Amino acid sequence: MSATYVLCRLDDIPSRKARGFQLLRVDDEGEHRPWGIIVIRWGRQVVGYVNRCPHNGVHLDWERNQFLDPDGTRLMCGKHGALFDLGTGLCVDGPCRGAGLEPVALSLEEGDICITGVTLVEDEELDGDLPPCEAEGV
Ligand code: FES
Repeated sequence: MSATYVLCRLDDIPSRKARGFQLLRVDDEGEHRPWGIIVIRWGRQVVGYVNRCPHNGVHLDWERNQFLDPDGTRLMCGKHGALFDLGTGLCVDGPCRGAGLEPVALSLEEGDICITGVTLVEDEELDGDLPPCEAEGV
């Protein structure tokens, strides 16, 4: 069973920036698993990927929320420098060239960035929503 969850407001992520979220996902066996994702905003478009490099399985940001290359046009893994196309998640340069990041289904609903297709552990005290995003420097 899956639902739709509000991650944050669109405006919480500046355009042409990426931000990481650490979530808790319910897997097929009902176990709770930490699940890190990356959300990229480009104007009114949002794209999401699991924060896991296909090369060594580590998270891409070796400094918090530092996901983009120096040009700001591709995702970059901080460990060995693999570069990923923002729109497709495909590795275009580096040790895992040709492999891809796992996509995360996102949608925009009334200015909220929402995640679908998974079951997340929620904090019931927050009435079903995930904690609100903080406006951090990204
Ligand atoms: S772990 Fe990401 S490029 Fe090696």
